[in-house]
Amino acid sequence: MNKLNNPFVIGKYVGKEYFCDRKRESEQLVHHIVNGRNVTIMSERRLGKTGLIEHVFANCLPDGYETFLIDIYTCKNLREMVYLMANEVFRKIAKKQTLVERLLNTVRSLKMTLSYNPITELPELGLGLGEIQQPETTLDEILHYLETFDNVCIVAIDEFQKIASFDESNIEALLRTKIQHLKNTQFVFAGSERHLMEGIFSDPNRPFYNSVVFMQLLPIDKNEYTQFCQHLFSLYGKTVAKELVEQLYECFRGITWYLQLSMNEAFTLTEQGGHVEIDAYEAILNHLVDSKRFTFEDRYASLTEKQKTVLMSIASVYPCDPPLTSQDFIAKYNLKTASSVQTAVKALVEKGILNDNHGVKRPTDLLFMLWLKNF
Ligand SMILES: Nc1ncnc2c1ncn2[C@@H]1O[C@H](COP(=O)(O)OP(=O)(O)O)[C@@H](O)[C@H]1O
Ligand SMILES: [Mg+2]
Repeated sequence: MNKLNNPFVIGKYVGKEYFCDRKRESEQLVHHIVNGRNVTIMSERRLGKTGLIEHVFANCLPDGYETFLIDIYTCKNLREMVYLMANEVFRKIAKKQTLVERLLNTVRSLKMTLSYNPITELPELGLGLGEIQQPETTLDEILHYLETFDNVCIVAIDEFQKIASFDESNIEALLRTKIQHLKNTQFVFAGSERHLMEGIFSDPNRPFYNSVVFMQLLPIDKNEYTQFCQHLFSLYGKTVAKELVEQLYECFRGITWYLQLSMNEAFTLTEQGGHVEIDAYEAILNHLVDSKRFTFEDRYASLTEKQKTVLMSIASVYPCDPPLTSQDFIAKYNLKTASSVQTAVKALVEKGILNDNHGVKRPTDLLFMLWLKNF
């Protein structure tokens, strides 16, 4: 195991040694894949969908699979998505010359140029977005190319809900038709925006209806996460109080990204051979919140008076969910009328400060909530 300076990694998958649990979910995903199903993974943001896919692709699939992962969060149309796909496919096959040659022969709609990187000694693809003139044709060619593999190809499309706002209006029908006829290529779709994902996959009037099996990702179990932290600390000759991990877990509702962020900080606070106790809790939170203070100040300043009041009332009961329609709550926080609360909440959802989870309004950024709590 290649030892990292800090074993609590944020934002990338570095290997199973640094990955907590998800055994059941990994088995489930593998099970669906080997049974030839297309899978949709949904959860709140930052809970670990992408990490799960990376983990399963890197460590859990049996031999005989070729995997590809693209994140279409920044894509606005099919052309941008196809561009990501072309690059990802190339990245995965760059080391195998016969596959590279076949790619050049199959994906003929693109003027791909190859150059050799003298340091890595690998070919590099010169492909600009502008070279994708007919994205639909190029997509057909890429899929056709994947169909020629001896291995089964698994294409994961992350932040898949973005297709709902692509420029092309028929994108769902187009993708569904193409995917439907593939024999050697399967898909994993992941997304956080529940209402958009459910719209795509669960609406009988839309093309992807009934075309996937669903997996819902929940927070990692508290005990599993605590043991994971204690184990990683011990590998470095350090110890961490169980209560500290548990209190952070409660504070962040078990959302993996915040947990990793706080444990990364807890780890840096602990000297070699040292122990970190529960009394480090405030220092850890303060550090995390403080690092974003300027962003939070700007964000807060951009709100109307009413939005500020409503947000403060939500922050003051956090981590509980605010009973926004209760008369007692409205009176206690001086929110005036239920309808004005609703207007403010709607604006906060539109600004992305709250998200709407089946009617329950929750803050999108928990560090912003903690900052507001101490405002
Ligand atoms: N099982 C895990 N163990 C450790 N860290 C994880 C695990 N799952 C996710 N992470 C980390 O948590 C953060 C959020 O995970 P991510 O997969 O990006 O969430 P999502 O895709 O659901 O938004 C990332 O920094 C990721 O590295
Ligand atoms: Mg993700």
